[in-house]
Amino acid sequence: MADRSESVKRPIGVFDSGVGGLSILRALRAELPLEDFVYVADSGFAPYGERDEAFVIARTQRITQHLLHRTNPPIKALVIACNTATAAAIHLLRQDYPALPIVGVEPALKPAVAVSQTRRIGVLATRGTLASQKFAVLLSSLAGQAEFVCTPCDGLADAIERHDTAQIEALCAQYIRATGQFGLITGEIDTLVLGCTHYPFAGDVWRALVGPDVHLIDNGEPVARQTRRVLPHPATDANAGHVTLCATGDTTALAHACEHWLGRHLPVHSLTL
Ligand code: DGL
Repeated sequence: MADRSESVKRPIGVFDSGVGGLSILRALRAELPLEDFVYVADSGFAPYGERDEAFVIARTQRITQHLLHRTNPPIKALVIACNTATAAAIHLLRQDYPALPIVGVEPALKPAVAVSQTRRIGVLATRGTLASQKFAVLLSSLAGQAEFVCTPCDGLADAIERHDTAQIEALCAQYIRATGQFGLITGEIDTLVLGCTHYPFAGDVWRALVGPDVHLIDNGEPVARQTRRVLPHPATDANAGHVTLCATGDTTALAHACEHWLGRHLPVHSLTL
């Protein structure tokens, strides 16, 4: 007889500081339509990107404990849908939970190298991600393959979280200017990495600023494929999976973002963590 852990349909846990991880959840739903997901937006403690590492580690551990010990049934895999939390804490979570498959996100530099012709690549991410040891290792692994122009985008995830359109447009314009000249001519930046899961929410704004030909790269699809690869006991019933949404802060922002990103209205549970 199958043990209980195989016969009960266990969800995949996904979390971010706020709405940004929905850009990853959308790709996960497309790749794994039969799976159930529990999504936690840590909006009561967002943004993470300009906080110190110890704070982000503590929040990440708290959310993981919740998903493993206080959701019923417990999660069978975890997706850290946040570059900042992945950089700060994925290695610690893997030490603490060696049996739990954990997938993180990191700025998609390798896919950017694969498509860039000018070999000049812009990287937009939070201050925390760009300052992390993990990002330094990633950059040095690609030394000599391209020039990366990295710009920390203070305040942008927060503006996206608050749905503040004027502020989003102003900050995007400021950070694109700070990054450099975009285009397809030698010396110009022809590829832009969106290294924070909030930034695809401003996809139209980026596109208007950099023009039609520049590659915009995020990592929803590669993360979803990696999750499929590491998933234990994939769901096999024919019913489409369920999504449960939780937020530690404002629930309406997540509900609205869900309508936009997943194309459906779902209730958001308030969570105290
Ligand atoms: N969405 C997150 C990331 O990918 C964090 C944004 C923030 O809270 O600053 O880094």
